[in-house]
Amino acid sequence: MTTVLAIETSCDETAVAIIKNREVCSSIVASQISVHQQYGGVVPEVASRQHLETLNYEIEQAMESSGLDWGQIDGIAATCAPGLVGALLVGLTAAKTLAIVHDLPFLGVHHLEGHIYATYLSEPSLNPPFLSLLVSGGHTSLIYVKDYGIYETLGETRDDAAGEAFDKVARLLKLGYPGGPIIDKLAQTGNPQAFALPEGKISLPGGGYHPYDCSFSGLKTAVLRLVQQLEKEGKEVPIADVVASFQDTIARSLTKRAIACARNYGLDTITVGGGVAANSGLRKHLQAAASKHNLRVLFPPLKFCTDNAAMIGCAAAEHLSLGRTSPLTLGVHSRLSLNQVMQLYEN
Ligand code: KG4
Ligand code: ZN
Repeated sequence: MTTVLAIETSCDETAVAIIKNREVCSSIVASQISVHQQYGGVVPEVASRQHLETLNYEIEQAMESSGLDWGQIDGIAATCAPGLVGALLVGLTAAKTLAIVHDLPFLGVHHLEGHIYATYLSEPSLNPPFLSLLVSGGHTSLIYVKDYGIYETLGETRDDAAGEAFDKVARLLKLGYPGGPIIDKLAQTGNPQAFALPEGKISLPGGGYHPYDCSFSGLKTAVLRLVQQLEKEGKEVPIADVVASFQDTIARSLTKRAIACARNYGLDTITVGGGVAANSGLRKHLQAAASKHNLRVLFPPLKFCTDNAAMIGCAAAEHLSLGRTSPLTLGVHSRLSLNQVMQLYEN
């Protein structure tokens, strides 16, 4: 058994967890959403300061509620990439300090690998290979999980991430921040077929479309134009119908690409990770399409879809049990491809 204390501070959640392989001993998440709401989005400097204020208290809380003492911890981990540099630095520096003080191995973890590992927390018997659809505020990717730590990116967004599109559309409709949960709730009362919106196909030079890549910035612009047109015509904007149509377009676009990818690569399982994995439209479309094609689709529980440290600890425990550790000289990276995960470890 490998037990790890993990810290996640890549964006606007300060989180600490203690994980024994794929089992959660404790998991604390403090969201900063209410602090950033007044600005309509995450303010990086404010995020770093909030992490600094809450982190030490959360480490104490995580230790206490796990019922473990420091002698039972085998390693300390923190998200080191990708994310906001200042925010990442707070968690990484705290993890390195704890590793030095308690004479324990230190591990840096890739945030997106964490989102992939979130599924293991609810499905401990899952093993690669499988396809992972990662849909968060900063990323939208289809990842072929070939083995532990071995990833190949098969498809991604060419512009806005799925969560970013939800946030931007919510902002232009003045619905508040973060947009995903607000739109998801409002869409339940609207007609998803009310407006035809572009799904964001990527043309290929020789003709046809890319089967796995997508684009959401055109969709966001189409929503803006639709609203402007309705207002110009003096009509009342049917907000629920607009967001239901928008959500349905994103859900269908992601579903189509994920199913095509899994079938073409002969993968029978699709896992979904990241904040947008909480979306009810995506869950409905993907589940229906997967069962039609005899594929298994696994959504982590909602608390592990959005940012948390349990998923980071789960990835770190796997690496540590395979003998991998990071040097204390490891820095943070605002951008780092999942294909480069093994560069974080020295053995
Ligand atoms: O994974 P996450 O917590 O943070 C990042 O790593 O980005 O994802 C946050 C994103 C936000 O854009 C938020 O609007 C979106 O996930 N989100 C949702 C839902 N809940 C959160 N999007 C659609 N439907 C939801 N129910
Ligand atoms: Zn995330």
